Amino acid sequence: MNPTSSIKKFEPFTFKSISEFEDKIKKLELTIPISYETEILKTAVKLEDIYIPNRLSINPMEGFDSDKDGTPGKLTYRRYIRYAKGGVGLIWFEACAITENSRSNKHQLMITEENLKHFKELVIKIREICNQTLKELGFSNECVLILQLNHSGRYSKSGGKRFPIRVYNNSDLDAALNVNRQDGIIISDIELKELEDIWVKKAILVKEAGFDGVDIKACHGYLISELLSARIREDSEYGGKNLENRTKFFLNIIKKLKNKVKNDSNFFITSRLGIYDGIPYPNGFGVKAQKNQTFPASVDLTEPIELAKQLYQLGVRLINISAGNPHYTPHITRPYNTSVKDGHLPAEHPLYGVSRIMNLTSVVKQHIPKDMIVVGSCYSFLRQYAGYVAAGLIQGRNVDICGFGRMAFANPNFPRQIFQQGKIEKKKTCVTCSKCSELMKLGKATGCVLRDSQYI
Ligand SMILES: Cc1cc2nc3c(=O)[nH]c(=O)nc-3n(C[C@H](O)[C@H](O)[C@H](O)COP(=O)(O)O)c2cc1C
Repeated sequence: MNPTSSIKKFEPFTFKSISEFEDKIKKLELTIPISYETEILKTAVKLEDIYIPNRLSINPMEGFDSDKDGTPGKLTYRRYIRYAKGGVGLIWFEACAITENSRSNKHQLMITEENLKHFKELVIKIREICNQTLKELGFSNECVLILQLNHSGRYSKSGGKRFPIRVYNNSDLDAALNVNRQDGIIISDIELKELEDIWVKKAILVKEAGFDGVDIKACHGYLISELLSARIREDSEYGGKNLENRTKFFLNIIKKLKNKVKNDSNFFITSRLGIYDGIPYPNGFGVKAQKNQTFPASVDLTEPIELAKQLYQLGVRLINISAGNPHYTPHITRPYNTSVKDGHLPAEHPLYGVSRIMNLTSVVKQHIPKDMIVVGSCYSFLRQYAGYVAAGLIQGRNVDICGFGRMAFANPNFPRQIFQQGKIEKKKTCVTCSKCSELMKLGKATGCVLRDSQYI
């Protein structure tokens, strides 16, 4: 069968053995490296003056379980304690809103001066447990904790109701979400300028809370991510054809923040970058500048690579790479076996989805300086074989750290299993059933409905 047609066919995960899995990768002519030398995942990674203890991390996963004022709730603690006991060297905390009206859910975390002390308590607790676990597993370096800060942009809610704060009339996304031109607002340049300073203030709170770093979120179609593709935002210093305008808001935040924290070399400024969303030009990012393309548009990483280089020049030494828009192209962000209710199965093999983001991540990594550490995403679809693929990727220097999302909901002990037994236990893996995303869509607290008694 010709590979281009077979990658366009959805197939669920049915592999009974690693050889069946490898055969499928070969048949589809995909580049998904496999190595049984999982010991490599125990090696530390140098990040400026410190070492991240190992090559496995938790990627940000919103739980929607904070108190109404954004304070981490009981279930938030529960989730992070489970991660901290698993053995990862890096925990990338979920999207935390910078303001009330940029929350996507009334139980999304939000950091404020009033609740700062609660974030401090959370950091102390998680750091203590994570370090104890790392010591027990034989790692000599201490954990790294990053918090992601976000403005939900067109996915914001106000008073519990949808209030899309849009950057421009993105016809692709507006149509998909039934957004009319009169819904919400198109954010003005003045409001964006004010937001830059609010964002910086909130990032300083993240530092005061005791996190090792802050992620200025630039992926998944939220505010900064939408700015990156704002070519048709006219008469604006934050939009237009040139990349300089479209990255201005994002880079201004980084520059201002860097200025404020310049004396503290131990606080990392980082970003989760969406490098390709598949949305045809002119409304997409990381796509070919060619009109009349259909979805998914051809890749062109020129701008994402340029942006990563600019981040490096500003002193950023850690990035986390993602892709897609989970509200529009969920199979690009998180390849799945089953879709959310009323969702659809994509016209592509999920292994192709996994290989797409792996390869794009690797291309970015090859174009940036070696001391810029890259965290990759999207390994949960691989289930019990994910550890072997992670080892293959690290061995090939395609990525520095493998970050797991849904697998951590289902089986927070996956790192311990890889470190101690060489593989993830088959009966405990995430099966990418999309139920965690469905809970999220319903606005409920989320977790694994198959493996975690709290959500079953
Ligand atoms: C329920 C849910 C919540 C998520 N929350 C976030 C988030 O807060 N920030 C973020 O950058 N990505 C978020 N993601 C995306 C994940 O971090 C990850 O990129 C994606 O699930 C693919 O990785 P995986 O295959 O390991 O699950 C979320 C995904 C899911 C399913």
